[in-house]
Amino acid sequence: MDLIPAPIERYAYERTRKEPEPLPALATATSQMSGAGMLTGRVEGRFLCMLVRLMGAKRILELGTFTGYSALSMAEGLPDDGQLITCELDQTHADISRSWFAKSPHGRKIELRLGPALASIATLEGSFDLAFIDADKENYPAYYQACLGKLRSGGLLVIDNTLWSGKVLSPSEPSAQAIDSLNRVIERDDRVENVLLTVRDGVHLVRKR
Ligand SMILES: C[S@@+](CC[C@H](N)C(=O)[O-])C[C@H]1O[C@@H](n2cnc3c(N)ncnc32)[C@H](O)[C@@H]1O
Repeated sequence: MDLIPAPIERYAYERTRKEPEPLPALATATSQMSGAGMLTGRVEGRFLCMLVRLMGAKRILELGTFTGYSALSMAEGLPDDGQLITCELDQTHADISRSWFAKSPHGRKIELRLGPALASIATLEGSFDLAFIDADKENYPAYYQACLGKLRSGGLLVIDNTLWSGKVLSPSEPSAQAIDSLNRVIERDDRVENVLLTVRDGVHLVRKR
């Protein structure tokens, strides 16, 4: 299901200021790869960068690096002494993203942890201002609990693909079921306040009280 009519998506893309290099080159190179649709892209990337700046975030956790677009977008909003830890399972994705981090002045703020995200999270010390969840969808409920535990009070969880192309309306496969179940858990969770935005494929904003 197309959640947003293509001409409206195009208009929002064109009226959002162009992201700095190397992000456009990264997006173009990724468009030739399988799984290219996983990249967040300009509108969501600028949104993430703006959230980081508005919050004055200094420490960010990301699950699901892919080729590094969202990591670099968020790192851009961090101060010089800020830190972003990004977790990625796939060695090829890790190698590609590291090569892009090296081309950006913000790449030195990023540390990549290779391996299953849940195992990486368990090794992390200290708290985070913001966590962006964008790895495998079946683990979303577990990622939510693990990331919420690492977030400071007043911190923000940003969870991507929470409308899953509309499949949450009648979830019949495991990813849709996991996302729908998590959206329902969040709505009832007294530890947080939330809003599920219809940005791109659904962006769930969850603030820890
Ligand atoms: C949707 S993509 C991330 C897109 C990225 N945030 C961006 O904006 O370009 C999901 C990524 O999660 C990775 N992934 C899948 N399962 C994972 C796991 N268990 N732990 C960590 N990363 C995982 C995939 O290899 C893939 O690179």
